[in-house]
Amino acid sequence: MKYGFFDDNNKEYVITTPKTPLPWINYLGCKDFFTLLSNTCGGYTFYKDAKLLRMTRYRYNDTTPDTNGKYFYIKDGDTIWNPGWQPTKTELDSYECRHGIGYSKFTGTKNDVEAALVTFVPVNDPVELTKVTLTNKGAAKKDIQLFSYVEWCLWNADDDMKNFQRNLSIGEVEVVDSTIYHKTEYRERRNHYAVYSVNSKIDGFETSRDEFRGAYNGPDKPAAVIEGKLHNTIASGWYPIASHQINVSLEAGESKTFVFALGYVENAEDDKWEAPSVINKKKAIALLSKYQTVEAFDLALAELCSYWDGLLAKFHIESKDEHVNRMVNIWNQYQCMVTFNMSRSASYYESGIGRGMGFRDSCQDLLGFVHLIPDRARERIIDIASTQFQDGSAYHQYQPLTKKGNSDIGSGFNDDPLWLIAGTSAYIRETGDTSILNETVPYDNDMSVATSLMEHLKRSFDYIVNHKGPHDLPLIGRADWNDCLNLNCFSEHPGESFQCFGPSEGPVAESVFIAGMFVKYGREYADLCKLMGDNAEADRALAEVDKMIKAIEKDGWDGEWFVRAYDAYSHKVGSKECDEGQIYIEPQGMCVMAGVGVDDGNAVKALDSVKEKLDTKYGVMILQPAYTRYHLELGEISSYPPGYKENAGIFCHNNPWISIAETCIGRGDRAFEVYKKTCPSYIEDISEIHRTEPYVYSQMVAGADAKFHGEAKNSWLTGTAAWTFTNISQYILGIYPTLEGLSVNPCTPAEFGDFSVTRVYRGVTYNIEIKNPNKVQKGVASLLVDGKEVEGNIIPFDGSKKTVSVVATMK
Ligand code: BGC
Repeated sequence: MKYGFFDDNNKEYVITTPKTPLPWINYLGCKDFFTLLSNTCGGYTFYKDAKLLRMTRYRYNDTTPDTNGKYFYIKDGDTIWNPGWQPTKTELDSYECRHGIGYSKFTGTKNDVEAALVTFVPVNDPVELTKVTLTNKGAAKKDIQLFSYVEWCLWNADDDMKNFQRNLSIGEVEVVDSTIYHKTEYRERRNHYAVYSVNSKIDGFETSRDEFRGAYNGPDKPAAVIEGKLHNTIASGWYPIASHQINVSLEAGESKTFVFALGYVENAEDDKWEAPSVINKKKAIALLSKYQTVEAFDLALAELCSYWDGLLAKFHIESKDEHVNRMVNIWNQYQCMVTFNMSRSASYYESGIGRGMGFRDSCQDLLGFVHLIPDRARERIIDIASTQFQDGSAYHQYQPLTKKGNSDIGSGFNDDPLWLIAGTSAYIRETGDTSILNETVPYDNDMSVATSLMEHLKRSFDYIVNHKGPHDLPLIGRADWNDCLNLNCFSEHPGESFQCFGPSEGPVAESVFIAGMFVKYGREYADLCKLMGDNAEADRALAEVDKMIKAIEKDGWDGEWFVRAYDAYSHKVGSKECDEGQIYIEPQGMCVMAGVGVDDGNAVKALDSVKEKLDTKYGVMILQPAYTRYHLELGEISSYPPGYKENAGIFCHNNPWISIAETCIGRGDRAFEVYKKTCPSYIEDISEIHRTEPYVYSQMVAGADAKFHGEAKNSWLTGTAAWTFTNISQYILGIYPTLEGLSVNPCTPAEFGDFSVTRVYRGVTYNIEIKNPNKVQKGVASLLVDGKEVEGNIIPFDGSKKTVSVVATMK
């Protein structure tokens, strides 16, 4: 069942009922100012950091009611309604929500009044703009009232929901004309405030939530709206809000439009006040004055759309498969940008007050957005590397605002260092910019011990070389990619962190997954060494890689698939010898992607085992059989009920690893089958089962053991976005950036047909046509570059050209 449809021409998903199974959200904002916005106008706004600079309040851990947002109420006689349905939930005569790329539109009608909202954040200003157009569709004149509503968060979102004994006394506002200023804590150490304004005269305002709602009422029954009159209260403590009242008369057929602006303003420390206790409003006035007209609003929206069109044009496919076209050209790339902006901080499943930026998460996200915004990828790499320790290990997370490592969690996730190589290599393959390797980058943000980025990569590599266990496989530490496989933790008491309890390092527990990563990214490290002319270091690295391959072949192979790990007793994890958890997905994907087993048939065996033991109609499960009891020696993984999350859920992030691995052995049909199973557009029809947004990936889909098999959770902020884009663009469609130039080597289903890709790479536009006359799954027989035959798969890079046309014919 569907709750809407894709409108590809407008790059929108159109939701046709407010009663979606879960709130279906969109993200507004490109740089510093962000809003999460659901299809019923729920959500919240923050500036730069969802924890420390939260502007509006949201009710946590309450997914389906989706309480609190930026609401508009319309009072038409005794009927009070909202164009996005919430919070009054008055039945609408019609409803539509269009989530677009960086904007959303809502249209609701009730009793002959149509309210159309368009909302977005301009590319370069810290302000959310909403255009509200009210139209009288009936034959008689209408006298109605429009009320806006936002509830302020007192900036630190964590403190805001805990420290009431202080917070209920500190709220402060000012109001001048149509602008409401929220200035809590500005009197002391803050130098920023928020504004909510409208480009018209108002008939009243409210800044006290209690006055607006009345005692014991929620936002669904605001007393002041029911009364039809706001009381112009200046809030003092309690819960400051901002609400405007505009009385609107509409002749038959007449429309009136208002532009609302919710902005963030920062003043210099010595320029905070215009008079004692009166905030300096100059910057706010300047910001608001830019958006006083519908023309200015429309122009800023057009700029936003062309900004996005420019980004998305960097990879564009035309094929006969509409799902692939739509996901690649629009939604998958869009989701990659959102993960760039948010990492794992703010979504409907991440509170914005918990995790900051993950070290490994951010490095992987980079794989999906490096072609879109290479400059910002460069900056990101330097930020990430700056949180590395001198021995090559790394803080597992860092705070986006301070860019400092988070010492509550610390280090000890032993895959982290290798992801830095993965991200840097992807950046250089994309841009050719080797100057980044000579940048001076601190350790733990300490410039006095800074070295070149290249030296950081060496220490990443050597961290693994220097931390091996009894089988010469890498020590796992607190966990590897699978945060929940905690082999050194041994947590016995509720409330202890599975990751941070226990030692960060154990001398025995080892990871075959990290071993596979070491082979894959160790080779990429060696390639970078060669590129920089350090052949001796490249040879040393490759010799270490060879040793690791031997260790995997000797102790990392279980007969039909790769072992997952060795626990602290040196017992196998993910082996036929185990009672539960006999096979795991991660080492099958990573080892084959690294080329291990490709020549001796083990790769085929491993991937066949995946198909036989882990596959379901909704995707490939992370392990089987599920753990049915808590295993002290395995940690969090066995804490989940069977079928959920890392305990045999379909963890979407590593499905593309299997799909990529399939392309490494040339099985395009199977690679695509795996791609399709979790691809949002392909499963739009089962939205009532899947439940999360049909236009983006979720972190997890419940596995076969779960009660709700097929149900997804945790949409938007997941490494799935980057890995799926890498999979479809670089492996299935086969346009892979190498250090020398773009390589063309598709691995598609036999029936996929011919297709063409436009790819902007290092400033050159490649128009690539791929022909598959014999319906093969892999292999390029000829490559014509601007009409000339080229040997092999790589288009030699020539920066003097603006466009290059390429015709690849598969064998
Ligand atoms: C985390 C990743 C982790 C994955 C598997 C995600 O929630 O963001 O860092 O690799 O879970 O445990």
